[in-house]
Amino acid sequence: MKRLMRLRATQHLRDLCAETEFNRAQLIQPFFVVEGLKQEEPIPGLRGNVRHNIPSALKQIEKDLAAGVTHFLLFPVPAEKKESGFSHDATQQTISEIRRQFGNSLCLWIDTCLCSCTTHGHCAVLDENGIKLDETLDELAKSALAFAQAGADGISPSDMMDGRVARIRAALDENGFNLVPVMSYSTKFASNFYGPFRNAADSAPQFGDRRGYQLDVRNRSGAIAASVRCTEEGADLLMVKPGLTSLDLIRPIHEATELQVGAYQVSGEYGGLSVLAEQGLIKFEEALLETWHVFKRAGAQYIITYGARYAKQLGI
Ligand code: PBG
Repeated sequence: MKRLMRLRATQHLRDLCAETEFNRAQLIQPFFVVEGLKQEEPIPGLRGNVRHNIPSALKQIEKDLAAGVTHFLLFPVPAEKKESGFSHDATQQTISEIRRQFGNSLCLWIDTCLCSCTTHGHCAVLDENGIKLDETLDELAKSALAFAQAGADGISPSDMMDGRVARIRAALDENGFNLVPVMSYSTKFASNFYGPFRNAADSAPQFGDRRGYQLDVRNRSGAIAASVRCTEEGADLLMVKPGLTSLDLIRPIHEATELQVGAYQVSGEYGGLSVLAEQGLIKFEEALLETWHVFKRAGAQYIITYGARYAKQLGI
């Protein structure tokens, strides 16, 4: 009798047949640095993650490096919010202190968006008619350049404005940063799963929502087109976000673009695991690893996850 179970009977046989391979170097650890924060603050729902000031971020990175993390994604949270004309001094200081202390032992990506900077919490400069696209793109390009000048390894725009990758690429190239890659949040949906993040980054929209610029979950063609667009504009790496709700798109985007596509396990997905574990309903680390294998099976090249720092202890 054909018995599919036969090859699942022992660990040796399961390992022999496993098709997804895992590499710790393909995990990216996000972290939050809040300008002027007196001391670390917990982030509800995000197990093992806190809001940092610069000294506490430096300590955390030291621990993470020892735990085998090599890729980091910085979310800078400024103290003062504005309508436009954002200052990047605090973020530049964060980047250059990390660079000074750790040199090239890490790869530092910077999330580039306006939602933590603006009074209204939207990812754009607005006026009474809505998004001012040209001003927004200018601000994003200025931000990207400021981050590269401070020593960022890569820029990661998360705003979903048309044309941002092209404008950022041009600003980087014109200023001698032609080797700084852009990892675009290329297929990013308007989602309910960003809740814990918006608390941590203090970036919740003060009115309305982000459905006017982030993607509609019902629209598959639009989701693929957004990544194709980023590719045409010069993105180096693509991404789906949220990860688990976009698994079906990873391979089609890769096939349409021939670029590598990562998955962002967003705060609400990771937070779901954290809360279930707090309730004693799942084993956190094992469930986390399960989700990572699923991203790999779906074709994700890299994974952004708040739990990257647990990978080594999970045997990866
Ligand atoms: C900023 C940004 C968001 C996330 C990453 N960059 C929030 C949003 O778009 O509202 C979400 C990340 C997460 O939930 O872990 N634009």
